[in-house]
Amino acid sequence: IAPMIAIVGATGAVGVELMRCLEKRGFPVGALRLLASARSAGSTLPYGADQVQVDELRDDSFAGVDVALFSAGATISRRYAPIAVAAGAMVVDNSSAFRMQADVPLVVPEVNGATLAGHNGIVANPNCVAAIMTMALAPLHRAAPIRRVFAATYQSASGAGAAAMEELRQATAAHLEDRPFEAKVLPHPYAFNLFSHNADIDGESGYNGEELKAAAETRRILDTPDLPIGITCVRVPVLRAHSIALSVEFGRPVSPDEARDLLAAAPGVRVVDDRAANHFPMPSEASGVDDVLVGRIRTDLGDPSGHTLALFVSGDQLLKGAALNAVQILERLLGR
Ligand code: A2P
Repeated sequence: IAPMIAIVGATGAVGVELMRCLEKRGFPVGALRLLASARSAGSTLPYGADQVQVDELRDDSFAGVDVALFSAGATISRRYAPIAVAAGAMVVDNSSAFRMQADVPLVVPEVNGATLAGHNGIVANPNCVAAIMTMALAPLHRAAPIRRVFAATYQSASGAGAAAMEELRQATAAHLEDRPFEAKVLPHPYAFNLFSHNADIDGESGYNGEELKAAAETRRILDTPDLPIGITCVRVPVLRAHSIALSVEFGRPVSPDEARDLLAAAPGVRVVDDRAANHFPMPSEASGVDDVLVGRIRTDLGDPSGHTLALFVSGDQLLKGAALNAVQILERLLGR
C-alpha cells in the first residue's frame, strides 16, 4: 500500500520541489501531510488536482506517517527527526544535521546507494555541491582512482532558500530601475555581483562552512576518507542551478576521450561538451533538469604529468542537489 508521506518545510524552495518530484515520478503517495512553521499554517499548496492544507509542525505531527522528508534546516531536523523516527517514520533529511553521523548513511543513489542498507531510521541527503560534484567524480573514480580535487563553485540563490531567490529577483529589478535596494536575506548586494559563500568562516583554516561541508561529504560519499580537496565556494546571481569548475588528479593519466565515455555511460549524467559550438554546461540549461551536465573535459595544463583533467559541471540545486536526490533515496528505500 502507498505510504503516508510528510514533508517538513513544505512551503520552502526544496519542499515545493519535493512535491513536484513525487508527482512527476508517479510516486505512490497514500496521503500527504504538509508541515511548516506557524506562519504558513492554514495555507494550501497544490498536489496533483488537489489543494493540500499546510499544518504547523508539532511533536504530534508524525502519527501514522510512514516517510518524513525534512527540509526546514538543521535545527528543525535535530529536534523533530528523532520524534518522527520514534513515531515509526523513515526520515530522509535534507539538512546538514546528521550527514557526518556514522550510523546515518549519506547517499547519492547512483554513487553509494548500497550504503542505504545500514540506516537506522534516518538517511541524510547530501549538501548540494557534494551531490552534484560526486555525480561527476564517481564514474571517473571507479575507473581511475582520484588522488586530488580542486573545485571552484558558482552557486545559485536557491541554496539559500526561497527568500534568497526572491531577493535576487527584487534586487535585480531594483538595480535595472536604478532604485536603492537593501539586502535582507543575503549579506551582500546580489544583483550583477558575486560574493564568497555566505556560510560562516572557520577562523583557523579560512575555509567557509559550505566549503568544509562539501569537501567532507564528498570524501564520505566517494568513500575516500583521505582525499585532498581544495575548494572555493562562491554565490553567483543565478536562480537555481549550481556550477562547479573541477580539476581532478588521477593515479594514472586519463584522456578526455576516456573520461567522456565514462561520463556518457553514467546514469544521471549528461555530457555537454561541444567544442566546435563552444557549448558547455550552463545553469540555464541545467535548471529544471534531472541530469547533471558535465563538459569542458580537457587535460589540465596546470599538471604537466598529464594525470589531471579539468571539467565544468552544472546541476539543478533544487533537483539533484536536493529534492530529486531525496526522492531517489526514497525509491531505493522502498524498493521501487
Ligand atoms: P515557513 O514557510 O512557514 O517559514 P527555505 O529553505 O526555502 O527558506 O524554506 C524553509 C522551510 O522551512 C519553509 O517551509 C519554512 O516554513 C520551514 N520552517 C522554517 N522554520 C520553521 C519552524 N520553526 N517550524 C517548521 N517549519 C519551519
